[in-house]
Amino acid sequence: MIDLRSDTVSQPTPAMREAIFHAKVGDDTLRDDPTVLRLEERMASMLGKEDSVFMASGTMANQAAVISFGERGDEIILGENSHLFNLESGGLSANAQLQPQLIKCEKGVYNLEEIESKIRKCGVQFSKTALISIENTNDLNAGYVVKRQHIEEISKLAMRYQLPLYVDGARLFNAAVAQNLQLHETIPGAAAVMVAFTKGLSAPFGAILAGDKSFCEEARRVKQRLGGGFRQIGFMAAPVLVALDTMIPRIKQDHELAQLLANELKTYPLGIEPENVHTNIVHGHFDETESYADYLKKASILIKVTTKNSFRMVTHNGIEEEDVREVIRATDRYFNRR
Ligand SMILES: Cc1ncc(COP(=O)(O)O)c(C=O)c1O
Repeated sequence: MIDLRSDTVSQPTPAMREAIFHAKVGDDTLRDDPTVLRLEERMASMLGKEDSVFMASGTMANQAAVISFGERGDEIILGENSHLFNLESGGLSANAQLQPQLIKCEKGVYNLEEIESKIRKCGVQFSKTALISIENTNDLNAGYVVKRQHIEEISKLAMRYQLPLYVDGARLFNAAVAQNLQLHETIPGAAAVMVAFTKGLSAPFGAILAGDKSFCEEARRVKQRLGGGFRQIGFMAAPVLVALDTMIPRIKQDHELAQLLANELKTYPLGIEPENVHTNIVHGHFDETESYADYLKKASILIKVTTKNSFRMVTHNGIEEEDVREVIRATDRYFNRR
C-alpha cells in the first residue's frame, strides 16, 4: 500500500525500535525516568522555553495547555478550522470548560483586527478572554505555514492585552524546515507550545508541551488529572530522541515529494495548486473525490477523503519518489479511462 492518508501512519525506524529495547527507564511520575528527563530538557532548549512536559499525544498536550491557561467560563480565541476546536471530542468545553471565540485563518494568515475584536475584559455580563491559540502548521488538511513575522505580530497583540499566546505546533518541525528556521525561531513571543512526535518525525508515541516553569508545573498536575501519570515511559521517549537525531532531514524530503506530487497532478482537474502546498500536505478539490479515491484504492493507494469533494495526500517517511510516480501514473489512468 502507498498510504498517503496521513503522516501519522509513518512507522518507527529500526534505530527507534532498538532504542526502545535499550532505554533506561524509571518512574516518570516521581521524575525518575532519565530518558524522559533528557527528552524534556532537550525539547525545552529546542523550543527556547524553561521547561517541557512529555505528553501521550498532541491532543493531551492541547487539553493540558487550555486547562492550565483558562478558568471555567473563560474564553479562548482560536481558528475555526483548528484541531483544538474540531477534533478533540469537545475537550475544550468538556475538559477545560472554555468558551470558544472562533476566528478565520486564510492559508496561515489570521486577521489581527478580527483577533482584537474578539478580546473581552471581564464584566458582569461577559466572560473574559484567557488566551489566544494558533496552529502552525495551520489546517491539518492543508499544512499552511504561519510565518514567523506573522506570529510575532500576533504575539505583540496578545502582549498588549496581557494575554498568553499558545501555539498548537503538532507539525512545527514542518513549519521550521519550510522557513529554514530553528524550532524556537518559529514561535516568537509564544507563552507555550505543543509539538507532536508521531507525524513527520515517525516516532510511535508522544508530544511535548513547553513553557515557563510555573506553566509546566501546572501542566504536570493537569496531566496527572487526565490520567497521564506515566511510569516507565522512557521506552517511548527513547525513540523520540532517535527521531530528533535522525528524522529532521527527512521532513525536507517530505516537502519536496509533496511539491513533486502537486506539480505533476496540477494538470488534472483535481483542484491542486502547488503554491498552496507549503509543507507535506497536498490538498485537492474535485467533485468526483469518492470515485477517484476508490479507483486509487484498487491500485493500492490510500488518500484521505476530507469532504464529499475534497481530499488530502500527505507525504512522510514511508513514501519515496517511486511511490509518488506511481500515484501520478494511477491518476493518469483514472482520467484516461473514460
Ligand atoms: C494541528 C493538530 N493539532 C493536534 C493534533 C493532535 O495530535 P495527536 O494525534 O498526537 O493527538 C493533530 C493531529 O493530527 C493536529 O494535526
